[in-house]
Amino acid sequence: MIKKLYTQKEINNRIKEIANELYKQYKNEEVVFICTLKGAVFFACDLLKKYKGNARIEFLRVSSYNGKNTTGKIELNLSISKDNIENKNVIIIEDIIDTGYTLKFLKEYINDMKPKSLKICTLLDKKARRKIKIEVDYTGFEIDDLFVVGYGLDYKEQYRNLPYIGVIKE
Ligand code: IMP
Ligand code: MG
Repeated sequence: MIKKLYTQKEINNRIKEIANELYKQYKNEEVVFICTLKGAVFFACDLLKKYKGNARIEFLRVSSYNGKNTTGKIELNLSISKDNIENKNVIIIEDIIDTGYTLKFLKEYINDMKPKSLKICTLLDKKARRKIKIEVDYTGFEIDDLFVVGYGLDYKEQYRNLPYIGVIKE
């Protein structure tokens, strides 16, 4: 059974707020949004549809997770060409930040390509579980130390297609 944590409506409203905040920040400057696969794909699509500015989208794929435990070892499975990043305003879109290892890896990978600016936008943040200090610029919701699924987030590749965010109740 899945216990709902955030409904579709709550997620939508929060995304609208973030999209407006981003637009206020960037206006008509071009922004390259990097969607991290697979988890952030639902969030990125909804956010970009609500974003009124000049946007591009790129995809990155990293893996670190094994069931419910982070391995700390990050692997890059899909890369981006430097031409798409150098001298551009870049925003990494993440589904959830847990220990912070994934984001640290992503930030270093993108920073090496010399973007004009780099910001982080995450749907969920499990602050209490952070192992390394990472600055996050835009957060959908801060959550407690819970394992959540739905709206892109999986448990062993299941539940990504739920339209809401929930917690598995055993
Ligand atoms: P970190 O490297 O520990 O910050 O892990 C981040 C990644 O772990 C996220 O991008 C997710 O793919 C996965 N993850 C962390 N917590 C959860 C969760 O509660 N549900 C599903 N995936 C999670
Ligand atoms: Mg992820």
